[in-house]
Amino acid sequence: MTTPHILPATVQDATHIAELHAGSWQATYAPWLPGEHVRDQLRREHAVLWRERLMRADDPALRIWKACPELADGPLAGFVCALSGADGILLDNLHVAAPWQRRGIGRALFQRVQRWATVLDPGAPLYLWVLARNLRAQRFYEQMGGSAGAVHPIAVSPGIEVPAVRYAWRPVKLRSERLESE
Ligand SMILES: CC(C)(COP(=O)(O)OP(=O)(O)OC[C@H]1O[C@@H](n2cnc3c(N)ncnc32)[C@H](O)[C@@H]1OP(=O)(O)O)[C@@H](O)C(=O)NCCC(=O)NCCS
Repeated sequence: MTTPHILPATVQDATHIAELHAGSWQATYAPWLPGEHVRDQLRREHAVLWRERLMRADDPALRIWKACPELADGPLAGFVCALSGADGILLDNLHVAAPWQRRGIGRALFQRVQRWATVLDPGAPLYLWVLARNLRAQRFYEQMGGSAGAVHPIAVSPGIEVPAVRYAWRPVKLRSERLESE
């Protein structure tokens, strides 16, 4: 079990986050995507996505955290992004680099999002979509207390839809002294 540093990501992290995202897609999703050109397309889209999101540092409805396992400025082991919207708090992307998996980093990132959700909107559900074929991540989300719901196609890129399962969490009641204001 690693005790990672969970820190707000900044625009300086955009390249490393995009690279970790691309590597994770290659390792986890490649067999389920239709062809090499799609993976190249996704790589380009992810690079744009993370630069754009990380430049929105003053957006109160968006948070991105990174996990650095050794030092505050050490290597990037994982990241998570959360967005607040009309349907609740959407956890949109949680990736831990392969060498750092099964050391508690995914759990630490997930719990960081839960705490933020509780402070930002205590009545809002937390939810996410996970690809239907990604059974390992589904085991992880079940371990985090999530409940599986409907299966729907989701767009992973314009024109490319893949079946995904919705996982949801009821609003967490944390003791007030554990709440952090941001
Ligand atoms: C899913 C993922 C985020 C989990 O992160 P992680 O740091 O490896 O998970 P943790 O070490 O915090 O695991 C916490 C618990 O979840 C469960 N779990 C985690 N990975 C699991 C797996 N592959 N199979 C079964 N259970 C798993 C275990 O109960 C684990 O506790 P344990 O190790 O004490 O048994 C990570 O494996 C990952 O990035 N995968 C590739 C990308 C991905 O699929 N992301 C999800 C996108 S929706």
